[in-house]
Amino acid sequence: MCGIIGFVGKKSASPILLEGLRRLEYRGYDSAGVALLHEGSLLVRKKKGKINDGLARLLKSEPVKGSLGIGHTRWATHGAPSDKNSHPHLDQSGKISVVHNGVIENYDSIKQKLLNNGHVFKSDTDTEILAHLIGEYYEKRRTKNGWGEHPREPKASDGSGLSGASPHQTNGNGENPLTLAVCDALREVIGTYGLAVICAEQPNTIVTARRGSPLIIGIGNGENFIASDANAIVAHTKKVVYLNDYDVATITPERFDVLNLGTDTANVQISKLEFDAEDAQRGKHAHFMLKEIYEQPQTIANAVRGRLDFEGATARFGGLNMSIAELRGIERIVIAASGTSWHAALVGEYLIEELAQIPVEVEFAHEFCYRHAPLERDTVLLVLSQSGETADTLAALREAKRRGHRTLAIVNVVGSTIARESDGGIYMHAGPEVAVASTKAFTCTLLCTALLALNLGRVRDLSAADGKRLIAALGRIPDQIRQVLAERERIRQVAVKYMQRSSAFFIGRTHAYPVALEGAQKLKEISYRHAEAYQTSELKHGPLALISPDVPTVAIVPNDELLDRNIGALHEIAARSGPLYVVTHPGVQVPDGAAAVIVVPKNEPELDPILLTIPLQLLAYHASVALGHDVDKPRNLAKSVTVE
Ligand code: F6R
Repeated sequence: MCGIIGFVGKKSASPILLEGLRRLEYRGYDSAGVALLHEGSLLVRKKKGKINDGLARLLKSEPVKGSLGIGHTRWATHGAPSDKNSHPHLDQSGKISVVHNGVIENYDSIKQKLLNNGHVFKSDTDTEILAHLIGEYYEKRRTKNGWGEHPREPKASDGSGLSGASPHQTNGNGENPLTLAVCDALREVIGTYGLAVICAEQPNTIVTARRGSPLIIGIGNGENFIASDANAIVAHTKKVVYLNDYDVATITPERFDVLNLGTDTANVQISKLEFDAEDAQRGKHAHFMLKEIYEQPQTIANAVRGRLDFEGATARFGGLNMSIAELRGIERIVIAASGTSWHAALVGEYLIEELAQIPVEVEFAHEFCYRHAPLERDTVLLVLSQSGETADTLAALREAKRRGHRTLAIVNVVGSTIARESDGGIYMHAGPEVAVASTKAFTCTLLCTALLALNLGRVRDLSAADGKRLIAALGRIPDQIRQVLAERERIRQVAVKYMQRSSAFFIGRTHAYPVALEGAQKLKEISYRHAEAYQTSELKHGPLALISPDVPTVAIVPNDELLDRNIGALHEIAARSGPLYVVTHPGVQVPDGAAAVIVVPKNEPELDPILLTIPLQLLAYHASVALGHDVDKPRNLAKSVTVE
């Protein structure tokens, strides 16, 4: 959703901020802006609309100078998308500028208090209220006697590595007034924030804070960065610090200091980013989504690499943090996830139940928090999340921890909040996924879930022969994906011909049902066509009434024990003149008259969903291109949904 970037150093900040904002575009936004500090004045440029048409043009006609600045891509929550509601916002004095991700829940009462104090607001946003609140506290902090009794000051952790150095710049009383003002304001705020604040009177300082919305510090040489997403700064530095909730950091060109509003000391760890700026570039592909679809042979190979134990016929992970005895002690697994990751969870349910014989339940992450379902003591919560930042999924994780359950996660983004807060987990190693519609992360989630199921099975009753069967099958997948990708032109023709209809059904059974759900979701997301997925066996209980020459059905028909029944359902559809687009395995006889048949290589049943999904990704992609939509940034959607 919204994105933040900040820079403090000696270089010109404007191009760094603009480039950083471009790298955040994929997250979804409706406006963008920057604020720079130059010769004691704050210069703000902001504009509704895409960066190229709005902010970039504005910066060309009204350039800004300065080597300290913050930038923002906004996804509207309070107040419609407009120039005035775009970030950065200024406080009453015009000396303080703020960008903010998240939602200030008690903004009404704060606004009332500020109105009573004579504040005048220019936008409809909760962020402007926060800027004014910080501004009010800043005035009190800088005028020595204005404050009265100070609340307990949070303790700082010196992240600079300069032993003995004071963790803060001083204003004569040992503290930076801007940092203290931000702390004062945040103590009053209920809600979530990723925040960056600059002040005309603090020429070398950005103050940043997080609660519930990701923020990282990028450590450079004589320059430092902040960002809500590593993509924005990876071109400049790979040394980063992931802030924790309630951290407030003060950043200058030479150092950064972190304090925590909740605990006595902040926990500061320097990590290394594992990807390059080029990984998040489109390269020769027309869209990020296509690039990411084509990366799948490699991402699947990366996810498997180093994790197979051929002798033990099992999979091994460095980060599960559970002994064999503990793995054997798991009585039940609840998988919580959202959206596409929830579809992967449904496949995971089949795999873990079949291979490990552990009962599994799949929950929408947001429902898990509110259902208060009874959980046996030895239930493990497994969360699946590409971004590792999805607010609903994070809330489910925290709820399970609160209830005393062990939590595991399968996550793509290294160092993300879910990765850091779960007790153990598996990284997908899919590399940055930029297109809003998830593709390679989905198939990597399926892959990692299969590896986990294999591991859990082998510490229980799964035979070595079954373990070896799966290990051999894993080795075949990358080449089999390449074979599916070679069918692209045929899939494109199908997309152009049929997927422009206003509605489509996707059907599948058992492992193939989540594949159908995922295919329908992909088509909806980027082509804006109505698509619905059903269990094939459910058709005759209702949806068959809608089958007609105008409603194509995409049928996922693996060559498995349900083949005859699935073929029977296809005949029922064909008898009602419903156009059939069948994704199936070699040798399967589909009814005469099927509009198109895409054959994908057969693997083992546990891994077939990975291969069956790929034609559906291409189908959605080409439907979207044919309809002239913005494939990578579909309307109304954000890459990472960081608000509940
Ligand atoms: C769809 C899509 C979303 C995400 C969902 C959860 O293509 O990407 O449905 O899957 O918002 O996101 P993560 O996996 O980051 O938790």
